[in-house]
Amino acid sequence: SNNETVSDIARVYRGTFVHSTQNAAVEILKDTVLGVDTEGRIAFIGAAAEVAKLAETWGFRISDVRHLGPRFFMPGLVDTHIHASQYSYTGTALDLPLLKWLETYTFPTEVNYKDLDFAQDVYTKVVKRTLRNGTTTACYFATIYTDSSLLLGEIADKYGQRALVGKVCMDANNAVPLYKETVDHSTKETNRFIGELLKRKYALVRPIVTPRFALSCTPPLLSHLGEIAKNNDLHIQSHISENKEEVALVKKQFSDSESYAEVYHKHNLLTDKTVMAHGCYLTDSELELFRKTGTAISHCPNSNISLCSGMLDVRRVLKHKVKLGLGTDVAGGYSPSMLDAIRRALDTSKVLNIQDAEHKTLTFEEERTGNFQVGKDFDALLINPLVPDSPFDMFPNESTKGVLEKFLNLGDDRNIEEVYVAGRKVIPFQE
Ligand code: GUN
Ligand code: FE
Repeated sequence: SNNETVSDIARVYRGTFVHSTQNAAVEILKDTVLGVDTEGRIAFIGAAAEVAKLAETWGFRISDVRHLGPRFFMPGLVDTHIHASQYSYTGTALDLPLLKWLETYTFPTEVNYKDLDFAQDVYTKVVKRTLRNGTTTACYFATIYTDSSLLLGEIADKYGQRALVGKVCMDANNAVPLYKETVDHSTKETNRFIGELLKRKYALVRPIVTPRFALSCTPPLLSHLGEIAKNNDLHIQSHISENKEEVALVKKQFSDSESYAEVYHKHNLLTDKTVMAHGCYLTDSELELFRKTGTAISHCPNSNISLCSGMLDVRRVLKHKVKLGLGTDVAGGYSPSMLDAIRRALDTSKVLNIQDAEHKTLTFEEERTGNFQVGKDFDALLINPLVPDSPFDMFPNESTKGVLEKFLNLGDDRNIEEVYVAGRKVIPFQE
């Protein structure tokens, strides 16, 4: 049976691997050997002392093993909420609160994505920029336009990023009436988007059902989208309880619903495949509904602060055992880098601690990423703390944990030498 596995190993690395496990948010594996098979999956992981035995079992040559030296591998970063279409103005236009910001900057910008050339330019830039910053998986909002949303899927596939891509749905927009659909059109186009994207059989790109948020959708549209997601077993993404004015308006417009979360729940939009962004003002009973339905929250701390929306209390979310991930929320959040999202999440937690000493701050060690487990796809970042233009300095006897902490606090894309998604090297770009 060994003969069958001989040609299966594509690459073998030897050195330090840092990841999260069920038991430990940070586990450091020193002098470890990891093999990736030709399908991009982790074939084996073991102690370097056993490299000869592993070589025999798996049929690789010890001379082909790549030594990492001062570098280490960590799991790829997952951006659970990013608006690809807003990347054209990221880093600007942060002077207004959410609803005014949407009307003034966002909706007029998103109209431009009817133009496929404009979309091609921005979408190529955002996919490359996020990959460069170590985002191996991105959960994207595109726009209401199906064809350019499909183009985003094509570009993610071309550069090798794992992506969930959402054609945005909205049939209510008083501020920019040009930028909305009818219920029928939105439903039909969502079906066309899903069908066409699945037909293309991109290995790592999937559609995600995307009602923009309650204020952009009428109940009939929410119902159709809940049904589409259910019938096709698809992921769902939207926004919830980001800003106080938004929460008050939802209460007014959906007065027959008990809460904001109930508005979505009523239409089967809270599932174990749902990601809701923000959630700053969710009540205990709403968090309980999230836990019961398996709905996850995307914490977008840069956006929450930049638009003066609010601060998510992560401790409270975790106490309710609600699933939680981090998002950049470009362009409400100005940085496309997940390292920034990690830093802003810690900042927010520290501000909550300043306001209330009872609030226990988060630590970098709690920032769980994925892990290197046999059978899983190899989505990984090769970090080099010693690049010549490194944004931080090293001193004698740095511990690996210390180096990881420095990278998370001070590192940037200069330290991310290589990025792998499903075993494929996507950084440096292989054009
Ligand atoms: N709520 C509805 N649409 C948006 C958006 O584009 N960005 C953010 N941050 N919140 C929203
Ligand atoms: Fe958002």
